Amino acid sequence: MTNETDTAKQQQETRENWALRAGQWNAQADHLAKLARGLNEPLMAAAGVQPGHQVLDLASGVGEPALSMAALVGPDGKVTASDLVPEMLAGTERRAREQGVANMAFQVTPMEELPFADDSFDALTCRLGLMYTPSPERALAQARRVLRPGGRAAFLVWGPKADNSQFIIVDRILQEVAGIDPHEGAFTPTRLGEDGALNQLFAAAGFTEFEEQPLRFSPRVDLESNFWRPQLALRIGDNLKTMSETEYQRLDDAMRDAYRDLVDGDRVQLQVHARIGAGTV
Ligand SMILES: C[S@@+](CC[C@H](N)C(=O)[O-])C[C@H]1O[C@@H](n2cnc3c(N)ncnc32)[C@H](O)[C@@H]1O
Repeated sequence: MTNETDTAKQQQETRENWALRAGQWNAQADHLAKLARGLNEPLMAAAGVQPGHQVLDLASGVGEPALSMAALVGPDGKVTASDLVPEMLAGTERRAREQGVANMAFQVTPMEELPFADDSFDALTCRLGLMYTPSPERALAQARRVLRPGGRAAFLVWGPKADNSQFIIVDRILQEVAGIDPHEGAFTPTRLGEDGALNQLFAAAGFTEFEEQPLRFSPRVDLESNFWRPQLALRIGDNLKTMSETEYQRLDDAMRDAYRDLVDGDRVQLQVHARIGAGTV
């Protein structure tokens, strides 16, 4: 198989995989936006987003950070939200409409083949999307091409699996209890998480200055809130619909037991590690 055929096949697999999850992402969009707000500030700062800027957001999903950036760039600026999967991007468009946001455009596109002219944008962001492209190298090269000289790109990815409680636990339980391969459909959220992985991509794409920063959080959550249920729904989408009640109960019980092992005092102590790589053209 040629590389081109490989990429097309992987893109198709990714498209189908995310299309299956889109219903859950849409349903949880407002809740997720609040939950992950802490990731937006450092990402927008790393990309140098300013009022009046033309910004491109890759892998926008159901709307963040694109909607937050539309507020930041204001009426003289514009945010173009983009995603490989129409069912996901439809969520961004719906929410922009509901919130009366007028300074946004929407483009279905793989990040590794952007349909924009050279030097079109002042800043470019991508939150939790770069891990899912078959070719992060091409995505970075495209980012560099569409940014004007002096423009900045910032990509936020998950850190290593060992530093993220949710991936350690959810991956293990899905495999052991439900026989679900947690990496189906090219889904490996932590694959760019090692220190230096993003810097290497920026260097290879020819960015002049670039740097990586870790973002670490230690949220304490209530076991009784069953906080893993929305996570599971996002993660395995349609699989849940075909599970019997007994199968789902087993999975749910196993998740609770696994998180109980992390209880410290009256809360579950979680660890989260994300990383931002940013560079200037
Ligand atoms: C975890 S979601 C992140 C969405 C949003 N940025 C956020 O942080 O909530 C990952 C998104 O990447 C998109 N995606 C996957 N592969 C892609 C590709 N090759 N090009 C563009 N988007 C892609 C998926 O459709 C999905 O919407």
